Amino acid sequence: MPVEKVLVLHGPNLNLLGSREPDVYGEFTLDEINNELKKRGKSLDIEVDCHQSNHEGALIDHIHDSTENYRGILINPAALTHYSYALRDALIASGLPLVEIHLTNVFAREPFRHHSVVSPIADGLIYGLGLDSYLLGLEALVNIIKKS
Ligand code: DQA
Repeated sequence: MPVEKVLVLHGPNLNLLGSREPDVYGEFTLDEINNELKKRGKSLDIEVDCHQSNHEGALIDHIHDSTENYRGILINPAALTHYSYALRDALIASGLPLVEIHLTNVFAREPFRHHSVVSPIADGLIYGLGLDSYLLGLEALVNIIKKS
């Protein structure tokens, strides 16, 4: 039974995966991503809790309320990536190792997606690999935790 836990946070609109712009984001659903993450977590001997919200404040509250239960955070902040200083501050306040991921190659998309307010405070960033962005991000986060 793993004792270490990581928190996976998904930002706005990611609940729509599967039906939202499938040509851009793929056909898998958020539940499928979460199941894959939990499976990979098992093989890495770490428990994975997943949480999605469409609300900036709800994500921030969740970080405040649960930080002490986790050893690290894997986050796809979705559109909040590009402007949410409040989310960034909450992630800093958590004091936890942080890996940021994106399903798509944000640098190949509209210019407003090229800037992330989260990346400068993250330990690492993985993007453009679809579901693999999440799975590789989880592996990287677990490596960071094991080294600490
Ligand atoms: C995204 C990229 C963001 O620009 C966008 O707002 C999203 C998803 C991605 O995973 O590629 O909602 O974070």
